[in-house]
Amino acid sequence: MNAKVHELLNQQVNKEFYSAYLYLDFSNYFKDNDLDGFANWYLIQAQEERDHAMLFYTYLQNEDASVTLDAIARPDVALDSHMTVLEAGLAHEKYVTSLINDIYAAAYEDRDFRTMQFLDWFVKEQGEEETRARDMIAKMKLFGSDPRSLYLLNQELAARVYAAPTLVL
Ligand code: FEO
Repeated sequence: MNAKVHELLNQQVNKEFYSAYLYLDFSNYFKDNDLDGFANWYLIQAQEERDHAMLFYTYLQNEDASVTLDAIARPDVALDSHMTVLEAGLAHEKYVTSLINDIYAAAYEDRDFRTMQFLDWFVKEQGEEETRARDMIAKMKLFGSDPRSLYLLNQELAARVYAAPTLVL
């Protein structure tokens, strides 16, 4: 594997674990604010991010490329209000999309078609993650200021259940 592609894939293991950490922090914020449905939604989001990290980890191992684990940074988002948290989620997903695109570009340059094929799943997943994050903001804008509506939205988010990723390595 090309050194640049290898480095970026290895860094992505850490970035995905950081994402899990960030969403655990979001979940904790909502738990503290008695919105258990939102807390559930972000807990599952964190589980998905852990799965993403493991997919990069396993892909590297399968390709006989070394994996170096680094320290996971402390979540750095100021949790000032419900909307701040949701907007930080969207900003973070856009950042992750840019990271996936950077790896894809490096793989493309090296004609590393296998890595490109592996990343295809993540390209689609990032589109879905950004849509979900935008959807959360839209719903909060519509319903967040009315306690009864916020209660119903919280109920809706409580129904989210964990599903293993559709990509299997
Ligand atoms: Fe692993 Fe939310 O992207």
